[in-house]
Amino acid sequence: MRDLALWPLRFFLGFTFLYAGLSKIFDRVYLDPSSPLGVKQQMLTAAETSPIGAVVRLSAEYSTFTGLAIAFGEVAIGAAVLVGFWTRVAAIGGALLALSFFLTISWNVSPYYLGADIFVAFAWTPLAIVGDHGRFSIANRLRTAVRRRWPEGNAERRTMIIGGSIATTLAAAGVSVGSAVALGRRGGRRANNAAVTGLAIVPVAELSVGESLKFTTSDGGMAYLLHPAPDSYLAFRAACTHQGCPVSVEDNGFRCPCHGGKFDRNGQVTGGPPPAPLARIPVRIVDGVVTTA
Ligand code: FES
Repeated sequence: MRDLALWPLRFFLGFTFLYAGLSKIFDRVYLDPSSPLGVKQQMLTAAETSPIGAVVRLSAEYSTFTGLAIAFGEVAIGAAVLVGFWTRVAAIGGALLALSFFLTISWNVSPYYLGADIFVAFAWTPLAIVGDHGRFSIANRLRTAVRRRWPEGNAERRTMIIGGSIATTLAAAGVSVGSAVALGRRGGRRANNAAVTGLAIVPVAELSVGESLKFTTSDGGMAYLLHPAPDSYLAFRAACTHQGCPVSVEDNGFRCPCHGGKFDRNGQVTGGPPPAPLARIPVRIVDGVVTTA
């Protein structure tokens, strides 16, 4: 029973890394060098304050390669941990990747415990130390099959060779397909301030001064409408300009839960790592209804 103690952590981290990697591969702006949400701009922003800024700046020059390496690294680590294949090696990789995020993206988060990356880095350490105990483990099954098929000889070595060959073949196929998908989708997403015109948001009578309203734009994005003064309506996309996390309204503006980004009521950055203001959505009053202009 004791060797099941790490299962929740193992499957949570495995799923999260797999999901994070796939999200990057399928994200249309991730490899877009001109987008503030793309990996290149994120790295250049992080390099300003990171203690490993010189390395980050150099990596940003090869942002497509770096971005794909991060995405495929996350997919490989997540998948390996989920199926129990070189779990300890994958866990060490996961800890190092999370540590690199802490030293770059999360370096400005204050206090440090508000950022997730440092916790993820330490969460990997139990798995890096004890591995999967041979439970729910593809590697273990392969080893058993090898012993049955070749009772004589070095089963460990044979398992490594067969497992390594299968993993290399799968990785090569995955990287080829994934790269084609990621590069094919690059830059195709709507601009963050793309027109979302003619959408009726709310009748003016239904939003009092000082209130805010969350709404969905006509292109499916989340946004907020603020009514700070009698004749003033301000609308912003709810996507943080750091890494796209959804921001929420708080007393003095907006707050991003991911890395502590803060924006004032005009969408301007007031704290944390976001490199640019929130994207503004123009609005006007049409027949007593606040409408996107
Ligand atoms: S996504 Fe990092 S601060 Fe918002």
